[in-house]
Formats: sequence, C-alpha cells, structure tokens
Amino acid sequence: MDRIQYDPRGALTGAPGVSADDLGSLATCLKSARAETLADELLWSSGGSISAEKEPLDAGFIGLPERLLAEYQEDQQESEVGHVLATAERLRETVDRVVVLGIGGSYMGARALMDACCHPYHNELARGERDGRPRLYFEGNNVDNDALAGLLDLLEAGQTDAGGGNDAGGRGDWAIVVISKSGGTLETAGAFRIFLGALARSLEGDGAKLAERVIPVTGQTGKLADLSRSIGCPEIFQVPDGVGGRFSIFSAVGLLPAAILGLDVVQLLRGAAEMNQHFCSAPPGQNVVLDYVGVGHLLETKLACKTRVLSVWSKGLEAVGLWYDQLLAESLGKDERGALPLTVVNTRDLHSRGQQHQEGVPDKLITNLIVQQYRRDALQIGHSDRDQDQLNELAAKTLPEIMSAAIAGTNQAYNDVGRPTADLLLPATDESSLGQLFQMLMLATVVEGRLIGINPYGQPGVEAYKQNMNEILRR
Ligand code: PA5
Repeated sequence: MDRIQYDPRGALTGAPGVSADDLGSLATCLKSARAETLADELLWSSGGSISAEKEPLDAGFIGLPERLLAEYQEDQQESEVGHVLATAERLRETVDRVVVLGIGGSYMGARALMDACCHPYHNELARGERDGRPRLYFEGNNVDNDALAGLLDLLEAGQTDAGGGNDAGGRGDWAIVVISKSGGTLETAGAFRIFLGALARSLEGDGAKLAERVIPVTGQTGKLADLSRSIGCPEIFQVPDGVGGRFSIFSAVGLLPAAILGLDVVQLLRGAAEMNQHFCSAPPGQNVVLDYVGVGHLLETKLACKTRVLSVWSKGLEAVGLWYDQLLAESLGKDERGALPLTVVNTRDLHSRGQQHQEGVPDKLITNLIVQQYRRDALQIGHSDRDQDQLNELAAKTLPEIMSAAIAGTNQAYNDVGRPTADLLLPATDESSLGQLFQMLMLATVVEGRLIGINPYGQPGVEAYKQNMNEILRR
C-alpha cells in the first residue's frame, strides 16, 4: 500500500524563526503524547477506571479498524462489516435514492468519502452509469426550510416518470439512513420525522416496507433507538461505545453510506489500520502523525501561526477538509485555546483568499493536500486554429501539469515572503489512501490535545446553544 507522505520543509526552512532542529527537540514530548494516546486506548478497552480529567475518553476509535477487520475475517456474514455490506446491497437492489440524515460527525465523514471517491456528478448520472448505486443526499444537518423542502420535491418527482428517476421496477423508490449517536439532536430528529412521514406516504401506509426502508445508526439507548424499534427496523446499527461522533467515520456512521455508494470499505479500514501501525512504530522525524503535530505546534508556539489552512488541490477533497475543520475545531477549541482550521480549494481559492495568505496577517501555516495520481486520463489544452487566447504555446500541457506548476508556483511565492507551507501527499483519492488520511488526522488531533493538555474528546461548548434553543422553543 502506498503510504501518505508529509513534507514539512517549506515550514521549517521557508519561515524565519523555526528550523528542523526545533522539530527534533520536540521528539521526546511527541513520543510521550503518543504514549498517552495509546495508553488511553488500552485503558478504555480494558474497562479500567477513568480519572475525572480524562472524561470523556473516546479512545475507542483508535483500534476500531483492526477490530472490524478481524471480526470480518472471522465471520463475513455476521460481522459488523458483513451486515453493513448486506444492508447496502439490499438498498442498492430496492431503491434509487438514499437520504442520509445526520449532523456534525454523524454525516461529514460520509460526505467526504462520497465527494472524494465517487464520480463528481454521481447523483446526476443515470442508474446504469452509477452501476446501480443509489443517489445519496445529506439532510438533517440544518433546519433550513427551503433546502429540506427542495429535497422532498426531488424525492416526490423521482417517483413519477416525469421525475426521470423511476426506472422499471420502482427504481424511483427511496430510503432513509438516519444517524445520531445521542439520538436526540433536534436538527436530525426534526428532519427524520418529516422524511419518515413523506416516506410512509410514498409507500401508501405499508408498514413492513417502511421499516425496511429506514436504517438507523445510533447509540444503544436513546430516543432514536426507541423510535427505530417502534418502526420495526430490521437492522439498527450502533455507534460503538467509546467512539465519539467526529471520530466515528470507521463505524457504520461512515461505512454504511460508503458501502451504499459501492466504495470498498475493507480497503478503507485497511488504510486506517496501516496508518495505526505506522503511527505506533515510526520514530519522530519519520512519523507522519507526529511530524504533522510537531510542525503545527512549533509554528503556533514560535511564530503565532494560529490559523491552520488546509489547502486542498483537488475539488473532490473539499469535504475532507470540512470534515477536518470540524475535527480540529471541536476537539481542540477549548479553554480559550486551539488553532483555527480553514479549508481552501485551490487553484479556485487563490482567486478569493490568495491575496490574504500572501500578504495578510502572517499567522497561517498552510498545509497543501496534494493528490499524486489522478483517476482519469490527463486532459490536454490542445491546439486550436483560433489562437487569440495564445494558448497554442501550452497546447501539449495537461491539466495535471498545470496543477503541479500552480502548486510549485504558490509554494514558491509564499516561501519568498516567509510564509510557512508543508505538503501532505496523498497517493490517490481511493479508499486505502483516504483510510490512511482520516486515521492520520484523527490521531494527530488527539496527540496534539495530549501535547498541549487539552482533552480532545467531547464538545461541552456545543451544549449551550442546544439548551437555549430548546428552552426558547418551549417557552
Ligand atoms: O463530534 C461530535 O460528537 C459531534 O459533532 C456530533 O457528531 C454531532 O453533534 C451530532 O451528534 P449526534 O450524532 O449525537 O446527533
């Protein structure tokens, strides 16, 4: 498996005030933060008593990929992955559209996987062109009336010939995957009630079919678990204990939508397991997780780079960046501390944010996320008889070559004025690379939390708005 590479030279040599030696001198602290991260997982899995300052301790995500792979190897049918694959297959055979309801960590990973791995216009393609994989939509992540009504329009239209989605055999039919670990998040719960009503109407009151068309992913107990049982859903997936929302991409929360889209979830898990192995064994200086954490920490403490820009050089990775924004912001944005994450998509955003990154407040570390291998054949500019645009001199250049020039040119421009950059090189936008990347970023977030003394798990600050909103609604 090709491994993700991290090249921080542009941060350690491009910005005055930090050096590779500074990173070297952090090695001992990084190793103890790694040891603490791994000890936490042992403590969690052994069921030992957890001290108050460690609560909550959601370290269960770390070994989750290995646990799921081992179970699957032992029993392909009855394992969690086996159930995910079987349910995805059943949905692929019976419906053409799936609505995924969830917010925050309960949908952002699935969205990231879809955007990174599927055809960029997946939902627009005819069923045959999608190999029978359903269209996937995300809702329950807001309370936006018109957005939700728009999706209902689409689902209703899809069930008529006029909607164009109703292939022979009732392929305009749809299903709901509703994801909420707590089972009580209002945005998701409200959307679920509305979509459940619409689905029931579309099935003309057939309760058995309704139960089959609703796949909940939730905690063992809670309102959603109760509601799912009352609907009679044959398959209810669980968000495992000890796995927090934004760390749950390798549970059914991310795996089920990915499998519905036909992605190779086993490869995804293998990528994550590979990253675990690398994280545990490679020394600082050769460890992408520890080096990534060390550089971010150095730049923040020595150069006050409090803004971490993840500059993705591929449109399909924007949602990966948004997933990471949430991971970093919710995990470390506590006690009036924590860097500000910001995703930009380039070259697009060079024309909206590039000016500020080049000449604005020098408080940014820019990490480029670069895909090394494209899925599609390279497109050439090509020769034209109408050379008014004077592009014939670039006729032989391909879009990947232009992208490489843009990356090199941008790094050079930033480094010329002492703006630190680092490169994270993703072998490809496939399941094994993304499995590595997601696990790497989750591990890095936890290690950084331990390094700076912030509990990366839990999001106590989010409770305030929820309580106020609920109180206002019930006045
Ligand atoms: O990371 C987290 O824990 C949060 O972002 C949650 O995923 C989000 O608040 C949704 O919570 P729930 O799955 O309980 O509806």
